[in-house]
Amino acid sequence: MNFSTRVTELLGIRYPILQAGMSWASSNAELALAVSRAGALGVIAAGPMYPDALRAAIRTVKERTDKPFAVNVPLYNPRAAVFLDVVLEERVPILVASQGGPKQHLPRFKDHGVTWLHVTASPEHAVKAEAAGVDAVIAVGTEAGGHPPPDEIGTLVVVRAVVKAVRIPVIAGGGIADGAGIAAMLCLGADGVQLGTRFLLTPESNLHRAYKERALAAGIADTTLVGRASCRSACSRTISPAPSSRPSERALLRRNWRR
Ligand SMILES: Cc1cc2nc3c(=O)[nH]c(=O)nc-3n(C[C@H](O)[C@H](O)[C@H](O)COP(=O)(O)O)c2cc1C
Repeated sequence: MNFSTRVTELLGIRYPILQAGMSWASSNAELALAVSRAGALGVIAAGPMYPDALRAAIRTVKERTDKPFAVNVPLYNPRAAVFLDVVLEERVPILVASQGGPKQHLPRFKDHGVTWLHVTASPEHAVKAEAAGVDAVIAVGTEAGGHPPPDEIGTLVVVRAVVKAVRIPVIAGGGIADGAGIAAMLCLGADGVQLGTRFLLTPESNLHRAYKERALAAGIADTTLVGRASCRSACSRTISPAPSSRPSERALLRRNWRR
């Protein structure tokens, strides 16, 4: 199958797949390195890192592969300005910016030839990001782990609306877990996908084994949106503390394996 899309061409990768920036889970070199070496785009999540640790992780990835990789910077983060400086100083080829507008920083990054991917959750914001000059948008629906958009619009709806609203490449994210999900997003008109939760179960992800086990044991109803009532911008989707009685991801994988 030919995986060439506008995203593979833009980013210089083999598969139209991005490993999502995930605080803690991908706040290391190992996960991004493994993903980029495999032909997708590995992303280091700067969010919870000290700037020196971010710099060290970037250098490790650069030393061990010549494949493209990215750093994710949530723009609301108090250390965002320092992270952005590190990204430029270390000549990171691709930035994944989330949770904030791109306008203020974009010209500096364009001058340095950095590809800017901007996370958005609505066609209106995607159009603004396109007008500001970003290279592609990542359209994320409410299924997403971490901090999903507060409007609670599903990935199917958001991605299609964003695809219709902009001309630049669209990368779809939120609840995509396998090849069928990827194919579905490409059918909607996306040029690539961003997978988060799927990658946090890998050996290279920086999470405790107990969390990975809990995620693997979870069924499709076992996530909770925390903070929905109190705050419009910072609700968080996480694995529920108690497992439901629905079949777990592990059971589903076992069943599919036999088919
Ligand atoms: C544990 C975890 C941490 C996350 N941290 C971040 C982050 O630091 N920055 C960010 O832009 N998105 C973050 N996200 C959201 C992901 O980038 C991505 O949009 C999401 O995981 C996609 O949905 P999926 O998990 O269903 O694949 C996080 C997601 C998870 C699961």
